[in-house]
Amino acid sequence: MISIEKSSKPLKGHVYVPGDKSISHRSVMFGALADGTTEITGFLEGADCLSTIDCFRKLGIQIEHTQRPVHGVPTITVHGRGLHGLSAPDTGLFTGNSGTTTRLLAGILAAQPFDTVLTGDNSIEQRPMNRIIKPLTQMGADISSLKGNDCAPLIIKGGKRLRGITYHSPVASAQVKSCILLAGLYSDSDTVVYEPALSRNHTEIMLRAYGADIHNEVDVKGSAAAILHPGSPLRGIKVNVPGDISSAAYFIAAALLVPGSDIVIHNVGINKTRSGILCVLKQMGADIELENVDESIEPRADLHVRYSQLHGGVNGRFELSGKLIPTMIDELPIFAVVAASANCTTIIKDAAELKVKESNRIDAICNNLKLMGVDIEPTDDGMIINGGRPFVAADIETEGDHRIAMSFAIAALAANGQTRIIDDKCVGISYPAFFNDLKRLLQ
Ligand code: S3P
Repeated sequence: MISIEKSSKPLKGHVYVPGDKSISHRSVMFGALADGTTEITGFLEGADCLSTIDCFRKLGIQIEHTQRPVHGVPTITVHGRGLHGLSAPDTGLFTGNSGTTTRLLAGILAAQPFDTVLTGDNSIEQRPMNRIIKPLTQMGADISSLKGNDCAPLIIKGGKRLRGITYHSPVASAQVKSCILLAGLYSDSDTVVYEPALSRNHTEIMLRAYGADIHNEVDVKGSAAAILHPGSPLRGIKVNVPGDISSAAYFIAAALLVPGSDIVIHNVGINKTRSGILCVLKQMGADIELENVDESIEPRADLHVRYSQLHGGVNGRFELSGKLIPTMIDELPIFAVVAASANCTTIIKDAAELKVKESNRIDAICNNLKLMGVDIEPTDDGMIINGGRPFVAADIETEGDHRIAMSFAIAALAANGQTRIIDDKCVGISYPAFFNDLKRLLQ
């Protein structure tokens, strides 16, 4: 448990947030399936990405994990063994709290010559897996839920020949899309995944850099497709992981909430499929400048954020919906905190996916913000926030969800009294040094 008081001091100075979680996972997975070595700098050493390393070690991949003496930036070296180089693990594979590890790995395991059992912690065992079981089964895989409840543990039988499919995903989910594409690497024909809106495209960008024949297409109606033509071998590469915009979002929000703040967050990934939070906050009047923009294959920039008074759009109302939602899905908890402090009504729609994240985030956001005195109501696919009331301190139940813990630690900086985050340890899933970095910015 951690207690946090209203901040009398602004946030000042510079911070590097840890590496992007999605890119870190993928760099290890794709490195394992490539021929030759992959060297990763800026890897996120959070529990989720360490689960990915652990699973691939159990699948016979040699992975070295060293610290660089100068800046303490970790370097990971993955000794890839090619698409067909994984070996049968001695035990079941445990993915901890990580949905990305579970779903992407399932796509890879479906194509192996050996059987595996894949499971994770209590939260993972409650998250929907039918969304990957269904398309993988269509591809010819043999994958089922041990308890018959469409959740992990997943039993994956090996030795199946997979065929490419054209799949229309009902959800804009990069985990679903990536799972199918990874199975597609082993299939006998093209794999095409359509989604209602383009979800984060790290798999497409990175697999292409590793040598795969893959690209995105968006048609006139805005429907998005990822198209993979199998057959090209993957080759190990160097990956320089940018800072995670999902982690940066907490400090952006803190600077916008605490008067007088002025901070720079360095080297943050600004891939367009991830940076919806920046567009929305700017529309609400946030002073966020992108400096030193670097258009690498995964673009990045320094974010200079100064305290700003936020406002709603037309008539003090702000609506978030549609294709914007997947571009900021993980930032919606912290966005809700910011919106609750602004003098406007914010309506979040088309975000039912929040119910099946590490916790039911619609409930976790609404229940905790209500405890803090906010006028907020959950809806079937989002929430309605009547912002502008002062926050009051509360005891926050995180449900073991790292993003809820960090979002409410930031809300606490603007709340009268002492807020207690019960179970603050879960921040280690994606940002082990979160409280230290926050403290430094407040000194
Ligand atoms: C992720 C995709 C998103 C996101 C998760 C990471 C990824 O999940 O919420 O934190 O790395 O592909 P969905 O694909 O289920 O939306």
